[in-house]
Amino acid sequence: MAQITKLKEADRGHVRALELFIMKEYLEAMLNRKWEELSQDFIDQLGATSDGAFERYLDSGLSYVAKEKGQIVGFVFAQMVEHMSNIPKMVWIESIGVHPSHQRKGIGYQLLKKACEEGKKAGAQAVQSAILPENAKSMMLHKKLGFFLDARKLSFLDLDNLK
Ligand SMILES: CC(C)(COP(=O)(O)OP(=O)(O)OC[C@H]1O[C@@H](n2cnc3c(N)ncnc32)[C@H](O)[C@@H]1OP(=O)(O)O)[C@@H](O)C(=O)NCCC(=O)NCCS
Repeated sequence: MAQITKLKEADRGHVRALELFIMKEYLEAMLNRKWEELSQDFIDQLGATSDGAFERYLDSGLSYVAKEKGQIVGFVFAQMVEHMSNIPKMVWIESIGVHPSHQRKGIGYQLLKKACEEGKKAGAQAVQSAILPENAKSMMLHKKLGFFLDARKLSFLDLDNLK
């Protein structure tokens, strides 16, 4: 059984390596480029463990890692957001991942449930998480916890591209 513990500064190196390892597979497919073709600057800015983002998810108190035999095998990065979608306090799930060789053992469920429960204790009324429609595993995980998946799509604008 994996141990779920609050994210600590000391976890930084290992959890960054795991987040990038997990991102590698779907980013290569999404960008249609090999990891080796990506610039170091681009890679450095990826993920919730990148400089700047990590500190926010550490301070949120809602981010957790899963450990087996002392090794980090999964993570969830979450924070509280206020007055989004007219909800006073809501947990935003930035990222969740489990090492492929530890998947389907209930770790993702334990991690997401913990972030939801602790968010509720801290006053949240709801939880929001963005899921790519082709990500069946993530969709099934969220459904198991009672998330409602509607046809909403997030639209995103990089403000350097404002027309
Ligand atoms: C999504 C992810 C976090 C799930 O973690 P996990 O530890 O394997 O999930 P769990 O074992 O806790 O599974 C919980 C439920 O999710 C669903 N699920 C998980 N993996 C599944 C799979 N391969 N096929 C079908 N359902 C799956 C099931 O409903 C499962 O419950 P069950 O085992 O009782 O049927 C993991 O697959 C992952 O890291 N994927 C890559 C990163 C990613 O896509 N992250 C989400 C977007 S940021």
